[in-house]
Amino acid sequence: MQNIAKIGILTLSDRASAGIYEDESGKAIKECLDLWLVSEFECEYSVISDDYELICQKLQQMSQDCDLLLTTGGTGPGPRDVTPEAMQAVCDKMLPGFGELMRQVSLAYVPTAILSRQSAGICGKCLIINLPGQPKAIKECLEPVFPAVPYCLDLIGASYIQTNENYIKAFRPKGARK
Ligand code: MTE
Repeated sequence: MQNIAKIGILTLSDRASAGIYEDESGKAIKECLDLWLVSEFECEYSVISDDYELICQKLQQMSQDCDLLLTTGGTGPGPRDVTPEAMQAVCDKMLPGFGELMRQVSLAYVPTAILSRQSAGICGKCLIINLPGQPKAIKECLEPVFPAVPYCLDLIGASYIQTNENYIKAFRPKGARK
């Protein structure tokens, strides 16, 4: 029997964490997962401020429980945007291809896509992917990289996930284990 995958959603925002506005981006991530995944999964959700030490702590803690951890916010050039610095500190390996593809695709939507330093990395047996903070950026960024996510989880020994092929056609090389 396959393990039920655990997926973390971590919103990094001073204002959402203070209740100044609602966390629309975290909700947008959950909506994508509900639509795209056919295999069962559990969610762990958290909203914290853009505090470097806190982000490092939370990334480490959530990646111990989660197979996949999706963050939103804190990727830009502002003084409080420190998600990439925290990623560098906690990840065993960075996967720069995720950020490269997300920025490339995003340029079709908005010229400021180049301001995002979003990336992805491996922390233990967890794949962490950073998304920008704008709610509309979630699907724009996650959809193009998601076909590579299930096989990446296989490679790092995380839980097996299956996508709804009407939305996301996951790529696993021929002969990859089930
Ligand atoms: N990427 C997509 N796909 N759509 C967007 O609307 N916004 C950009 C960029 N990437 C955007 C995007 C903007 S305006 C900024 S400032 C950066 O992401 C960083 O956002 P963050 O600091 O909220 O993470």
